[in-house]
Formats: sequence, C-alpha cells, structure tokens
Amino acid sequence: MLDGKRIIITGSTSGIGRATAIAAAVEGASIVISGRRQAEADAAVAEIEAAGGTAHAVTGDVAEAGFGEALIARGTELLGGLDGVVNAAGIIVRATAEATTDEDWVRQMAVNVDGPFRVSRAAVPRLRANGGGSIVNVSSTCGNVGAAGLAGYCASKGAVISLTQAMALEHGAEQIRINAVCPGAIETPMLAGGHADGVTIDQVRAANLASIPQARIPGPEEVADLILFLLSDRSRHITGADLAIDGGYTAQ
Ligand SMILES: NC(=O)c1ccc[n+]([C@@H]2O[C@H](COP(=O)([O-])OP(=O)(O)OC[C@H]3O[C@@H](n4cnc5c(N)ncnc54)[C@H](O)[C@@H]3O)[C@@H](O)[C@H]2O)c1
Repeated sequence: MLDGKRIIITGSTSGIGRATAIAAAVEGASIVISGRRQAEADAAVAEIEAAGGTAHAVTGDVAEAGFGEALIARGTELLGGLDGVVNAAGIIVRATAEATTDEDWVRQMAVNVDGPFRVSRAAVPRLRANGGGSIVNVSSTCGNVGAAGLAGYCASKGAVISLTQAMALEHGAEQIRINAVCPGAIETPMLAGGHADGVTIDQVRAANLASIPQARIPGPEEVADLILFLLSDRSRHITGADLAIDGGYTAQ
C-alpha cells in the first residue's frame, strides 16, 4: 500500500508512532524515525532494518523552535524526497484547568500544538515540490469532546483539529492532504502514565472500558492501520477530516 513512499514520523520511538513506522516500513515505505531519545530511535531503526525495511533516525524535541524545520530538512535529504508526515509526538498532563500550572499548560501546548504546526509548515514546500502528499496529525477524542481532568490536553488536541482543517483548505488544490485521527484509549505507555498516586493501571483500564461501546482497548497497531490508509493513495479524496478510532466512544 505504501511502496516507495518516503515518510517522516514524529513520536515514533514509542506507542502509536512506533507502530505506524514499523507497519509503514513493512508496507514498503522508507521511514525517518524521530523522538527525543537516540537509543530508542536507534532501536526502532534496527527493528525496521531487521524486517528488511529502510529507516533513519533524526532525534530532537518537537517543542523546540527550529527542530521542525531541521527534522523535515534532514529527513527529506535522507529519504531523497518526501511523500508523507505523521505528527504523533505528544504528551498528556492529567489535571483540571484549575490545577494546571502555567508551566504544564505551556509545555503541553508546545509539544502537542507548536510541534505539529512547525513540522507541517516545514513539510508543505517539500510536499509541494513532490506534487502532493499526506500529513496525518494524531489528535484524540479529547479534541472533539471534553474530558474532565484533561483540560489542557483537550485544548491542545482541539487545536490540532482546527489546524488540520485550515491547512487542508490552504493546500487542497496542491493535492497536499492534511487529516487528523482521533484515537480513544489505546494501550501505550501514555495510557499508563501520569495518574494520581494510588491509581492503578487496572483501574484506568476498567474506567475506560466502561465508557467504550466496543468495551475493548486496542493496541497502537489498530491506529497505525488507519494512519497507513491516510498516508496511502487509497485515501486520495480525503482531506480536512478528523476520523475517530475509539470503539464508538464519541458516538454517544
Ligand atoms: N494512548 C492513548 O490512549 C492516546 C489516545 C489518543 C491520542 N493519543 C495521542 O497519540 C500520540 C502518541 O501517543 P502514544 O499513546 O503513542 O504515547 P507514547 O508516550 O507511547 O509516545 C509518545 C511519543 O512522543 C514522543 N514525544 C513526546 N514528547 C516529545 C517531544 N517534546 N519531542 C519529540 N518527541 C516527543 C515520545 O518520545 C514518544 O515517542 C500522542 O499525540 C497522543 O496524544 C494517544
């Protein structure tokens, strides 16, 4: 499905980004892995190469001004061109608005909103030179509906959907497609992390399962399937969409 596609994926040292990178490589794409930690990026590259695929690593912090441009410039050079970008890097701060510090607010917006903005802005001219391409932003159900105790995270993921829609309009005629995926609870390190003291992962899973019509929490490979479709030419008439992948959670 992705034979010959050249794709840069942020947050691909873990979770949804990593699963997407491996699945895309198996489908024939060349990949640039990106995350904050070199050792984890090297491990993802090694896993892809062991499976017979092609991958490179460009590490850094997407919240840093200049990194988005540097990642896209170096990544495009390594790949010999650019067909697609996935903005999967993200963090979650579990706090009500009242309990959110300025520092947490700013950091969450910097990683979750500034990051995809800068990476996408840098990707546009390269995708234009390519005659088109696909950008996939990983938002969340929290971008479409509220979630108590996740005020800043919801605000950041809503902003990602708005950015997706506006950029899709700006670049539709150039065949640069920009879409968002909105996962519900997915079994990754993010689901387990950052809870209040004494809250167990079993309690987290039980609370999520009770609110999901399909009553299951999928692995990141299922989100990767949707992202691969959006990266591929099979989705060539889809742009500006935000697609829920949440077992029916936001249908309620
Ligand atoms: N797991 C879920 O339940 C869930 C649900 C909805 C949306 N999401 C979104 O999916 C995306 C991936 O999350 P995940 O569940 O795979 O989590 P994860 O913690 O497993 O992976 C997050 C990735 O982002 C990278 N990252 C974080 N901060 C970064 C920074 N400043 N610069 C560069 N890279 C950075 C990490 O290195 C890691 O590779 C996130 O945007 C998250 O908000 C996750």
